[in-house]
Amino acid sequence: MSVDAPTVSATTEPAGTAAPRCAIVRLRVHCFRNYPEATVRFGPGLNVIHGQNAQGKTNLLEAIATLALTRSPRTTSSGDLLLWNEDAALAEADVARPPADVTLSVRFQRDPSTGRVSRVTAVDGKPRPARGVLGVCPVVLFWPEDLALVRGGPDGRRRFLDVILAQTDQQAVAHMSRYRRVLEQRNALLHQLRLGGGARDSLNSFTSELAHHGAWLGVARSRLVEALAPLTALSLHDLSGQRERISVRYAPAHVASIPDTVEAAEQLLLGSLRDRSSEEVARGITLAGPHRDDIAFDLDGRAARGNASQGQQRSIVLACKLAEVRYLQDAAGVAPVILLDDVLSELDPQRRGSLLALLAEGRHQVLVTATEPLTEVADFADVLHFTVRSGVVTRDERG
Ligand SMILES: Nc1ncnc2c1ncn2[C@@H]1O[C@H](COP(=O)(O)OP(=O)(O)OP(=O)(O)O)[C@@H](O)[C@H]1O
Ligand SMILES: [Mg+2]
Repeated sequence: MSVDAPTVSATTEPAGTAAPRCAIVRLRVHCFRNYPEATVRFGPGLNVIHGQNAQGKTNLLEAIATLALTRSPRTTSSGDLLLWNEDAALAEADVARPPADVTLSVRFQRDPSTGRVSRVTAVDGKPRPARGVLGVCPVVLFWPEDLALVRGGPDGRRRFLDVILAQTDQQAVAHMSRYRRVLEQRNALLHQLRLGGGARDSLNSFTSELAHHGAWLGVARSRLVEALAPLTALSLHDLSGQRERISVRYAPAHVASIPDTVEAAEQLLLGSLRDRSSEEVARGITLAGPHRDDIAFDLDGRAARGNASQGQQRSIVLACKLAEVRYLQDAAGVAPVILLDDVLSELDPQRRGSLLALLAEGRHQVLVTATEPLTEVADFADVLHFTVRSGVVTRDERG
């Protein structure tokens, strides 16, 4: 199935801004989640994807996020992405962006003997490691889980930062993946030591490696938060017109703040790990490092998590997502694709109106899913409407 839309080329300049936009022109999914086979041609502006519950709206946006981020932001197990009872899956997208349009693809294949699912990412048909794909098509994904960014646990906040870093900072990506690997190895060793086994000597080399990659990651995240903070404050002001002062800062678990240089950050982290080594062995886990860090949001000097109202917390979340859009646009030099999964229905009329006003500016390609008709977008220029039913996407006549 294929549906047509106006063509968009790399030279498409969004109105009123210097940054050209990045846009998904065509998406093809094969045996991906509940899609046996589908090809969708999106428009360069607003694309509204309607559908009842459990039809495939989120799966469609997940396919795009998986292409852009090289892995699904929704599951850590690639096997979940394969259509049930299938052994292979593909997602592929033609992306319009300067200086040249590209085709991104990601192929998943299950090994029949081990059951393991491998993944190959490619640009223009040539296999490329994740670092060669990340940032090619910057995306900002905003889905219901994000609404818990302020009140939820710290993993969501760390993920918020890491998804931005992944798309803008290749060095941070390399250190992030090495940090994760060495953290797993170090935790496995600590677990063995706790049970009376394992080689204590190996702990020192894991500790140095962990401190090195952890310092890079901590400094990169801390600088990112510094850059996001004024953008968040600006967005919050635009959104609510309220006078509250928001302060956003990176909150490392083991020290008061992260030093500016990686060398100093590494020494501090090494010291913290050494100080906690007996407790680490007793508990069998690593107790300091960026996997335990957080972001602190204060509203008028008080922790927003415990003090701000639910509405204020939602405004902060929305402000963070708008800051993410602005930051990515500056860092990547192109306006990111915005993926909004079912969040409009979660917002009250004022916040919904503010978000729709951003969409109406027409600077970004936006893919938005909804179970109810979005009456407010009727007057927007450049809107296409699609309906999803049981893994089949059709373009609506009105679009
Ligand atoms: N690997 C898979 N193979 C086949 N179907 C799957 C797979 N993974 C999920 N599904 C099914 O896909 C369907 C659509 O899921 P999706 O999350 O996209 O729904 P949705 O349209 O976003 O619904 P909602 O409005 O409730 O969020 C669900 O019924 C889900 O069980
Ligand atoms: Mg959904």
